[in-house]
Amino acid sequence: MCSITVPPVVLQLLLLLSLASPATSCTEEEKRPLLQFLAGLSRDGGLAVSWRDDTDCCEWEGITCNGDGAVTELSLASKGLEGHITPFLANLTSLLCVDLSHNSFSGGLPPELMFSTSIIVLNVSFNQLYEALHELQPSVTTSRPLQVLNISSKQFSSEFPSATWKVMKNLIALNASNNSFTGHVPSSICLGSPSLSLLDLCYNKLSGDIPTTFGNCSKLKVLKAGHNNLSGILPVEIFRATSLEYLSFPNNGLQGELDGAHIVKLSNLATLDLGGNHFTGNIPQSIGQLKRLRELHLGCNNISGEVPSALSNCTHLISIVLNLNNFSGDLSKVNFSTLNSLKSLDLMGNTLSGIFPESIYTCSNLTALRLSTNHFHGEISSRIGNLKHLSFLSLADNSFTNITQAFHALKRCRNISALLIGGNFMNEAMPQDETIDSFQNLQMQMPMLKSNKTGIYLDPILLDLDLPIYQAPSLQYRIGSAWPKGLNLGQNKFTGVIPSEIGQLKELLYLNLSFNNLYGGIPQSICNLMNLQGLDLSNNHLTGAIPAALENLNFLSQFNVSNNDLEGPIPTSGQLSTFQNSSFDGNPKLCGPMLMHHCGSVEAAPVSIISAKQCSNEVIFAISFGVFFGVGVLYDQLVLSRYFG
Ligand SMILES: *[C@@H]1O[C@H](CO)[C@@H](O)[C@H](O)[C@H]1NC(C)=O
Ligand SMILES: *[C@@H]1O[C@H](CO)[C@@H](O)[C@H](O)[C@H]1NC(C)=O
Ligand SMILES: *[C@@H]1O[C@H](CO)[C@@H](O)[C@H](O)[C@H]1NC(C)=O
Ligand SMILES: *[C@@H]1O[C@H](CO)[C@@H](O)[C@H](O)[C@H]1NC(C)=O
Ligand SMILES: *[C@@H]1O[C@H](CO)[C@@H](O)[C@H](O)[C@H]1NC(C)=O
Ligand SMILES: *[C@@H]1O[C@H](CO)[C@@H](O)[C@H](O)[C@H]1NC(C)=O
Ligand SMILES: *[C@@H]1O[C@H](CO)[C@@H](O)[C@H](O)[C@H]1NC(C)=O
Ligand SMILES: *[C@@H]1O[C@H](CO)[C@@H](O)[C@H](O)[C@H]1NC(C)=O
Ligand SMILES: *[C@@H]1O[C@H](CO)[C@@H](O)[C@H](O)[C@H]1NC(C)=O
Ligand SMILES: *[C@@H]1O[C@H](CO)[C@@H](O)[C@H](O)[C@H]1NC(C)=O
Ligand SMILES: *[C@@H]1O[C@H](CO)[C@@H](O)[C@H](O)[C@H]1NC(C)=O
Ligand SMILES: *[C@@H]1O[C@H](CO)[C@@H](O)[C@H](O)[C@H]1NC(C)=O
Repeated sequence: MCSITVPPVVLQLLLLLSLASPATSCTEEEKRPLLQFLAGLSRDGGLAVSWRDDTDCCEWEGITCNGDGAVTELSLASKGLEGHITPFLANLTSLLCVDLSHNSFSGGLPPELMFSTSIIVLNVSFNQLYEALHELQPSVTTSRPLQVLNISSKQFSSEFPSATWKVMKNLIALNASNNSFTGHVPSSICLGSPSLSLLDLCYNKLSGDIPTTFGNCSKLKVLKAGHNNLSGILPVEIFRATSLEYLSFPNNGLQGELDGAHIVKLSNLATLDLGGNHFTGNIPQSIGQLKRLRELHLGCNNISGEVPSALSNCTHLISIVLNLNNFSGDLSKVNFSTLNSLKSLDLMGNTLSGIFPESIYTCSNLTALRLSTNHFHGEISSRIGNLKHLSFLSLADNSFTNITQAFHALKRCRNISALLIGGNFMNEAMPQDETIDSFQNLQMQMPMLKSNKTGIYLDPILLDLDLPIYQAPSLQYRIGSAWPKGLNLGQNKFTGVIPSEIGQLKELLYLNLSFNNLYGGIPQSICNLMNLQGLDLSNNHLTGAIPAALENLNFLSQFNVSNNDLEGPIPTSGQLSTFQNSSFDGNPKLCGPMLMHHCGSVEAAPVSIISAKQCSNEVIFAISFGVFFGVGVLYDQLVLSRYFG
């Protein structure tokens, strides 16, 4: 049934409607527009079975009538319908609710429906209505009853209507997200629709300023306009919209500072998301007065100064994302012990210093903690083991010390599924043997990489966190299916041989073991990694032949074994023959058609013999260390550091 979540008044109305039993059957006048609708379908999803001319249309699938036999509701979401929406639906003068969402309607949304004199809920989201949305028709001058308009998802690419809203005096919710609307955010929006409570314009191509008339939106609770091309500042008028609970403008080109005197006016605010803009200045201490704040997302701006200690007054905070800014100072001034609900804290890419605040270890619900690329120092406290839900932990590129202590502390965090600790523990010796021993039993059990069910071992909460995991100049992967299944242990000064167990990581797409001190042969088992797209074993001391079975890695598009001590002929069929000689450079004993050194008859493939004595378990240790924490995926930042050298 097509119902409205926003206004309780309408809910009551609908309830009344649905309770009313149809006493009379539908009239011919009602039946005709419906049959017209059916005729406009090129695929009817079986609708014709019940929509028969000789039956009461009030009994048809998806139709609800009132006591007078007039159609009040058309509920045909997800019916597999294709075709055009007939404007004659507007002939149904008692029609209140239309839900045609999640079908394949094409063409346009008839203005007769948008400007209907009866419809209060119109949901055509998730269709293919590509024709421009109609601007206000000159014939329409009086206020229209429409309360909820849902036109979201990948349809319209026209200019966003501006005048239309002037007659939408009753509009409560407008969801136009995830289209390709161009133009401006209409300044008439709240002037025309004083009851507007929800406005979702995110994922479009809107540009220009945020209109000052948002100050007139006294009922507005949810305002989302992220992922557009908006510029300018947050106008001070917007802080007059004191009903706002959800204010979200991420990924635009906004600038300016957060004014402490203004922000406190939004005392109902639960979500403030201004990430991915050009905001500067500090976070004002007055943020502590936003007692209802649950999400504070200001990542990827140019905000500086200290993380305000007043944040500890926002005791309902669930998520704090301040990554990639210029925050500095000693974080231990912030008392996290009041933030019992905190689930994610992301401070990556700032210049925060000091010892990481002990108070964080009381946030027992903490699931994701990212502190990478800051100036934190000191040891990892054993109290980190109190964080029983901790699933994602990145401490990379700081100045943490005492790797032995870190291992002991982290062993207690049983739920960690992603751990990044590289770029710390500089010049420390390898941990004691017993530390290694405690990891060895767990050798090669990387469940994520062995299974093709991406994400299955990830805490579902983590998937909701929206944490950008991977930062490269133009790449940002989210946790989930977009996660690259890569193992990057490059640049670690590892010694030892490549463990043959590597072949168990069958879902691996990228394997990088370059710039280590690995010796011995390339294990045959690498040929089991049938999905491998990139393999970099360069700059080691690998010996022996290139296994001929590597030819079978059909997806391999990057391959580098340069600067080793490999020998014999390069396999000439399959993928390997397609790589440049630079992939093989610096192996004087290799021969092949792409190299200066062509193979003579003497150079039969040598047998690679690895003596047991040569085998060291250090690499195995490094990998099993990851395994112990159930490391699903390791990325470029994952450098299990230089301390092994
Ligand atoms: C269509 O939108 C209405 C109003 O927001 C909503 O109640 C209904 O659930 C939506 N239909 C679907 C299938 O999402
Ligand atoms: C719709 O109404 C108009 C007049 O208001 C009428 O001319 C037309 O035939 C009707 N169409 C259908 C399909 O009911
Ligand atoms: C708008 O619709 C989209 C579906 O396209 C939905 O994901 C989103 O939550 C809706 N916005 C609001 C504020 O309800
Ligand atoms: C946008 O629309 C597309 C196609 O309908 C859908 O697959 C996608 O999930 C939508 N995105 C959002 C954020 O609603
Ligand atoms: C609009 O439609 C989407 C998808 O059908 C639904 O998730 C959303 O709740 C609807 N209502 C509003 C107000 O966005
Ligand atoms: C909108 O708000 C301004 C103050 O910012 C006020 O002067 C104006 O009268 C308001 N307009 C309406 C239509 O309420
Ligand atoms: C974004 O808006 C600016 C003006 O504010 C404009 O110069 C630029 O072309 C727009 N970019 C896109 C992709 O629309
Ligand atoms: C935070 O709360 C403390 C005591 O509860 C109070 O003294 C302080 O003024 C508050 N700070 C802010 C910025 O609200
Ligand atoms: C960031 O802000 C600082 C001043 O705090 C300024 O010097 C710097 O140029 C800004 N950087 C960018 C990229 O805007
Ligand atoms: C911690 O999370 C659990 C489960 O999500 C929840 O029941 C509990 O209330 C949370 N604790 C706090 C202090 O928020
Ligand atoms: C590192 O921590 C361990 C305890 O886990 C301690 O015994 C050792 O003394 C610490 N090493 C240094 C150099 O502080
Ligand atoms: C995952 O693997 C199973 C068999 O191991 C296979 O049946 C299934 O199609 C695979 N799924 C995907 C998404 O590759």
